[in-house]
Amino acid sequence: MSLDHPQGHETSNRQAALQGLYDDLARKNMFPFWATSADVDNDEVKQLMATAKAVPFVWKYSDIEPLLQTAARLVTMDDSERRSLILCNPGLAPKRASVSTMYTAYRLNDPDEIMPPHKHSPSAIRFGLTGQGNFTGVEGEDITFGPGDMVLTPNDAWHNHGTVGGEQAVNLSVLDLPLVETLHAVHFDHHYTEMVDGKEVAKKVQTALYPTDYSQRIYGEGGLKPRFVNHRRGAGKSSPMYVYRWERMQAVLDAHKDWDGDPHEGIVVDYIDPITGGPVFPTISFYVQMLRPGERTLPQRETASLLLAPFEGAGHSIIDGERYDWAQFDTLAVPGGSWVEHVNGSDSAPVIFFGATDAPTQRKLMLYRRWGRNKAGDLLSFE
Ligand SMILES: [Fe+2]
Repeated sequence: MSLDHPQGHETSNRQAALQGLYDDLARKNMFPFWATSADVDNDEVKQLMATAKAVPFVWKYSDIEPLLQTAARLVTMDDSERRSLILCNPGLAPKRASVSTMYTAYRLNDPDEIMPPHKHSPSAIRFGLTGQGNFTGVEGEDITFGPGDMVLTPNDAWHNHGTVGGEQAVNLSVLDLPLVETLHAVHFDHHYTEMVDGKEVAKKVQTALYPTDYSQRIYGEGGLKPRFVNHRRGAGKSSPMYVYRWERMQAVLDAHKDWDGDPHEGIVVDYIDPITGGPVFPTISFYVQMLRPGERTLPQRETASLLLAPFEGAGHSIIDGERYDWAQFDTLAVPGGSWVEHVNGSDSAPVIFFGATDAPTQRKLMLYRRWGRNKAGDLLSFE
């Protein structure tokens, strides 16, 4: 519009005034959010939505493993109590998160190293990948674990990690730290004490209070609940079953490998709190997903964000139209809201994913939804 037109003057004055307003708002740490007409060159909705978002991503174990070995050489436990590689989603950088609410970290434990106890408000699990001697003590239960075993270190539960025996061991952990951080509720405590002769004494190692097979013995039989023990353990903020053995999961998968399963998910088995039947943590939970040889799932979309680690097998996923290849021990990030299909690349071997989801949080907040498409491509709304 030309400036010598009276209306042009008005418009250009308004534009200048608006620009002044926007500059002023930015200086004073405010953001203008109102509907705009087409002649104003300021798209607030677009800007408001243009925040950092997780993207689908695969971290390769073939990249991770050599870096873990180098870190183990360069960083001793004298330098640091913790030696983990956190997977950072490129869409969320510099935030340390693999999807918006969770991160996965890989850890290589040297032979016979055990770190002092600590606790924190984020909840975490450890999942064994290699080696038989992964160790985590949780609230007085000393747990040694191997490939496929899952160990809980819940919100506010004292725990110490390490390795027992003479071989290196690798595990992955999944934490809800990015979620708890968003809620500004992260706290850590490294000052572990026990009462000795009526006095509080700082300790480097937790005293064992339970038999080492306690979780399995008390909770290992689905559908049966012993009445003679206290089911509130530690801070009482999670499943009281602190270790889920792979052997049991494997038995359930084997028993159902010829079952039809779900066309959108294959064979999925959830880890549950044996007392409530609900998720192991209030915030995030875990499952195992098996794709039979040659199986391809129909497209599914859910609001929950997922982290999937192939524990066995190799294949690829189509996420929002893009192909992502993965193999054993990689981690695949599936941001909430993505359309996903998984393909088992083998005609003879199964794929087994270890999966983490923030669905428990979304369900509590009434945000969870799930959709699928049938073979004809029709949209199906599941929940
Ligand atoms: Fe920890």
